[in-house]
Amino acid sequence: MTKEFTTAQDKEARIRNIKRRLGKKLLILTHHYQRKEIVDLGDYRGDSFGLSQKAARDRKAQHIVFCGVHFMAESAAILAQPHQSVQIPDLEAGCWMANMAHMESVEKAWDEITSLSGEGSLVPIVYMNSDAALKAFCGRHGGAVCTSSNAPSAFQWGFAQREKVFFFPDQHLGRNTANRLSISPDLTVVWDPEKPLGDNTPEAVKRAKLILWNGFCLVHTRFQEEDILNMRKRFPGAKIVVHPECTQEVVALADAVGSTSFIVKFVREAPPGSTVIVGTEINLINRLALENPDKKIFELHYSLCPNMFKIDLDALLSTLEEIGRRNLVTVPDGIKADARLAMDRMLSLTP
Ligand code: 13P
Ligand code: SF4
Repeated sequence: MTKEFTTAQDKEARIRNIKRRLGKKLLILTHHYQRKEIVDLGDYRGDSFGLSQKAARDRKAQHIVFCGVHFMAESAAILAQPHQSVQIPDLEAGCWMANMAHMESVEKAWDEITSLSGEGSLVPIVYMNSDAALKAFCGRHGGAVCTSSNAPSAFQWGFAQREKVFFFPDQHLGRNTANRLSISPDLTVVWDPEKPLGDNTPEAVKRAKLILWNGFCLVHTRFQEEDILNMRKRFPGAKIVVHPECTQEVVALADAVGSTSFIVKFVREAPPGSTVIVGTEINLINRLALENPDKKIFELHYSLCPNMFKIDLDALLSTLEEIGRRNLVTVPDGIKADARLAMDRMLSLTP
């Protein structure tokens, strides 16, 4: 494909042609943080929970093209049928947070914690933003995957199984969920994989109900308390809604907190004429502003996920031109079955 002499309209037209030709054999899934032109070309947009549901339910498509980051496409590959291929337009679209927890250090932490409190005392819950191998680890150890939509139900499910929950990699989603469920901060420890016993005392680990990996999202931890205070001054009367990957200090000052779908619904249901300040990824906020012209929608602070932004018209078009062949996302069979177990548990835990 010659990039230089092709206009955006031309690329869009070629993408629409391929879509028409493939019909129901092709399903393009787009995450809410994708560029507008990509979302406009997709068949279904959603957050990571909604897109997983879609991938798990679809039987007609032969090819699923996932416009999002790698762990999302990999999750779709775990849930897809054997006759379906999953492709991502850019294999380099990873997630910084997912890279903060690796199998080796999670297994080491698991061994250290269970040697103190016994294996039967601990259930692992992994955020969707993680490698398939970690999802499989959870499947093998009686645990589950969760997303920001169903983290509270997943934690409640976990505590109904065993005394302690081990949650990785996002400490902020973990802490905000614990606050929502009134789990005392005294019963929570943060695990630093670089330090012996995660930088905790054996007594603190034994006493803890919740063990949180020390990962975080650079896009959402960019928001500061002073951003909220500034916005309150500039827009008195505005409502402020943020994603639970933000720090608990930011969440405490906001009017509402919730997953990407929650934020979309919050803005949609805000009264006409109102002002809503949103603390999440900028591409979603810009689209919400366009789709809700009767309201004023502003970002809490500019924050873009460069990984999500890697998917552009060129990447999507090249993928479609080589449908079923280019940038395939696959999960080895040895990992897939266990990962599927943990993903199925996630799908049964309603948001
Ligand atoms: P959602 O689960 O809300 O789609 O969020 C995924 C994500 O990566 C947020 O940073
Ligand atoms: Fe990962 Fe953060 Fe980007 Fe979400 S916004 S994909 S958590 S880096």
